[in-house]
Amino acid sequence: MGGEELLAYYKHRAHEYEQIYEKPERQADLARVRTWLRDALVGQRILEVACGTGYWTAELASAAGGIVATDASPEVLALARQKQYPPDRVRFELADAYALAHVSGAFTAGFAAFWWSHVPHERQAAFLASLHGRLGVGAAVVLLDNRYLAGSSTPIARQDAAGNSYQLRRLADGTEHEVLKNFPTPADLEAVLTPVAQVLSITEFVYYWGVCYRVA
Ligand SMILES: C[S@@+](CC[C@H](N)C(=O)[O-])C[C@H]1O[C@@H](n2cnc3c(N)ncnc32)[C@H](O)[C@@H]1O
Repeated sequence: MGGEELLAYYKHRAHEYEQIYEKPERQADLARVRTWLRDALVGQRILEVACGTGYWTAELASAAGGIVATDASPEVLALARQKQYPPDRVRFELADAYALAHVSGAFTAGFAAFWWSHVPHERQAAFLASLHGRLGVGAAVVLLDNRYLAGSSTPIARQDAAGNSYQLRRLADGTEHEVLKNFPTPADLEAVLTPVAQVLSITEFVYYWGVCYRVA
């Protein structure tokens, strides 16, 4: 799956996307994630990458110093803009995660939820360079994503030569999509992030993992 197919998938999925946050068995874990996330980003001026329908934007808006929330899909941004936010705290911009240089604003932190898992191994360095280049040395970075849980996660259908894994996902309109979705271990995250991060901290929840660090 290339970047364009991923965008097309999320365009089709936009209206049903937030159902994943309604799974009853995940509510206790999500409550822990919300507390962890607010603690990590309170008071920060945040550049949010791949914000989707603004679920976490809305969650963080009152705690953050301000958020510029970006996504490469106009369709999901249109949904994100429909949510209620505290006045003057949130702005949306269309932006590719691999080309963040033109996003306007001054930031003390970067944040991406459920995006890292869609970054192919061979593009991870490019994404980090794009984000870090826009933030600068010492800025905080927070990444949040899924852990793989057999019986709960969509099974992995195949792996490619670069070690990326893929799931087959069916949407409400009946269409089936092959989606690149990686599930890094803490050791995988450390290996990629240690060369570009300071004070790296990895937190494992039941269904999710979270990473905090400062740009080196
Ligand atoms: C799994 S969703 C995450 C949405 C949101 N962060 C959340 O956690 O609810 C992934 C998002 O990545 C966006 N996306 C896909 N390719 C992108 C790219 N190259 N640059 C920026 N966003 C992209 C999709 O439009 C989609 O909104």
